[in-house]
Amino acid sequence: MHFNKLSGEVFYPSQEVIEKAHIKNWDELNEFATKDYLGFWEKMANELHWFQKWDKVLDDSQKPFYKWFTNAKVNVAYNCLDVHLKTPRRNKLALIWEGENGDLRTYSYHALHREVCKFANVLKSLGVNKGDRVTIYMGRIPEIIMAMLACARIGAIHSVVYGGFSVEALSERIEDSQSKVLVVADGAYQRGKIVPLKQIADEALQRCGTVENVLVVRRTGQPVNMEEGRDMWYHDLVNLPFITQNCSLEIMDAEDPLFILYTSGTTGKPKAILHTQGGYMVGVYTTLKYVFDIHEEDRYWCAADPGWITGHSYIVYGPLLNGATSFLYEGAPNYPYPNRWWSMIEKYGINILYTAPTAIRGLMRFGEAWVNRHDLSSLRLLGSVGEPINPEAWKWYYRVVGKEKCPIMDTWWQTETGMFMITPMPSVPLKPGSGTRPFPGIEMDVVDENGNSVKPNEEGYLVIKTPWPSMMRTIYKDPERYVNQYWSKFPGWYLTGDSARKDEDGYFWIIGRVDDVIKVSGYRLGTAEIESALVSHPAVAEAAAIGLPHEVKGNAIHAYVILKQGYEKSPHLAEELRQHVAHEVGPIAKPEHIEFVDSLPKTRSGKIMRRVLKARALGQDPGNISTLEE
Ligand code: WTA
Repeated sequence: MHFNKLSGEVFYPSQEVIEKAHIKNWDELNEFATKDYLGFWEKMANELHWFQKWDKVLDDSQKPFYKWFTNAKVNVAYNCLDVHLKTPRRNKLALIWEGENGDLRTYSYHALHREVCKFANVLKSLGVNKGDRVTIYMGRIPEIIMAMLACARIGAIHSVVYGGFSVEALSERIEDSQSKVLVVADGAYQRGKIVPLKQIADEALQRCGTVENVLVVRRTGQPVNMEEGRDMWYHDLVNLPFITQNCSLEIMDAEDPLFILYTSGTTGKPKAILHTQGGYMVGVYTTLKYVFDIHEEDRYWCAADPGWITGHSYIVYGPLLNGATSFLYEGAPNYPYPNRWWSMIEKYGINILYTAPTAIRGLMRFGEAWVNRHDLSSLRLLGSVGEPINPEAWKWYYRVVGKEKCPIMDTWWQTETGMFMITPMPSVPLKPGSGTRPFPGIEMDVVDENGNSVKPNEEGYLVIKTPWPSMMRTIYKDPERYVNQYWSKFPGWYLTGDSARKDEDGYFWIIGRVDDVIKVSGYRLGTAEIESALVSHPAVAEAAAIGLPHEVKGNAIHAYVILKQGYEKSPHLAEELRQHVAHEVGPIAKPEHIEFVDSLPKTRSGKIMRRVLKARALGQDPGNISTLEE
């Protein structure tokens, strides 16, 4: 393989990696996919099962409401499970699960299919029908995957709420989605303690009113409150004689909704990103296959949480569509000791590890000796997602974990994109900190305020210029916001909300969010959610939240608070406010630091200028402050 000379520090793939890769020549694939991107996606779609094929690959007659694989009939869950049952994969492991307390469960494709069918029958017995919304609030246990696939099988729309969210975040998402069933676990193990999920759910349900039934999966076994008539134990229902191991499936239109997933946006409440059956399936199948280079014998571990898009696409749907064996781990990376992850990689012979920079930085702090205690020679590929990876962490990951033989797939994408958008493949030369180039067939650019491409290495808005199959279809129940937020700044192009630069080799470098989204440990949070949690406390009159650089978390939340009259600032009150945010939004949203202030910088129309707060905190020039009211 011959590579062009690239600028900067470059890591070239070894011959061994290239020989094994599905895509040995990226340029060749890119050329084909660029010339005929619809042909490329159609070819990939043909690798999957459809009850009826499409009339058109792409219908762009109502931009930006794109449709893919129009009039095709499909079921994603069928492609994840049923199709494998007629092949030798039937008895292959689909899932290996380890609990934080050492519990171990494995499921073959046959077994996972059976469990999903039973789960679907239980949901049906509660009256869940095609199109109904089901909220799922659990830790990382096999049942979260079963619940999602059970919904997909019967055409219900799942809305998974990350188990690290808390009362208000959960209640808001249930209310907005109008879910009639909530699937919850009694608790989750996290760092040796129990997160009382059912108890949090009970509190959330007092604030919203659509849920008719709560289905409770037993994981931790502590006593929980069960409300008569509303709450049922999953293990009671699933063992009823009429819950069989077969469940007929719903034949779905390619454009029927598969799930909604809430994510933080620029202003106001989190938005429900809607993904549909057909296009989403083709996008995640293809990207996982080519980027993480899934082979029949691989054991793949995406260490994200199923409750975020990374988990939806690359723990649940992507691996199963590819017939892969995936590993799921319930708990914290350093519990009980900092070698937990490395010991499991050795124990299960993991070949592919996909995680976030924050986890790498966190584990890096404990030193290499913890890694070196274990034989990690099974690893072939590594991955990173969620925020820019600093070259120092990249190199540590590459050298200490990957022993300089595993390429790192730094994948840039979003809840909205559904699949990897900027990403290497194993045969692509890497530069630490860059996700390299857009996935073949996807046109992206970095542009200025007027939409002109900026010069190499200049910063600008990151935009996507061509549609892709797993793109979000709309914001659930709010199509106007979908158009305004993503398609109005540069009509015809999708606005990512990130700033980036492109170097002279066409490699993209992500700088970060340009809106009021803060990435804390790779988790996506909105300043609005943190601020509204703060002002829901009786002592707080006004609040502003910003993200400031943090060595491990990437960004940490700093909040500025104006107290109501009659309240005195004190370290005790600051701590109480931090706990209040944790209780309302979730521990991940807890501010690192709270500062009491007498005023906040605002524009004349009363908008808080977070940019000014941030510049001040960093001791930088706040730039243009002509609209400042102070
Ligand atoms: C950021 C996560 C740099 C980015 C899959 C994006 C990244 C936001 C990367 C989406 C990466 C994600 N390098 N930044 N490899 N991956 N981001 O919706 O700011 O939780 O807009 O999806 O994460 O976050 P979300």
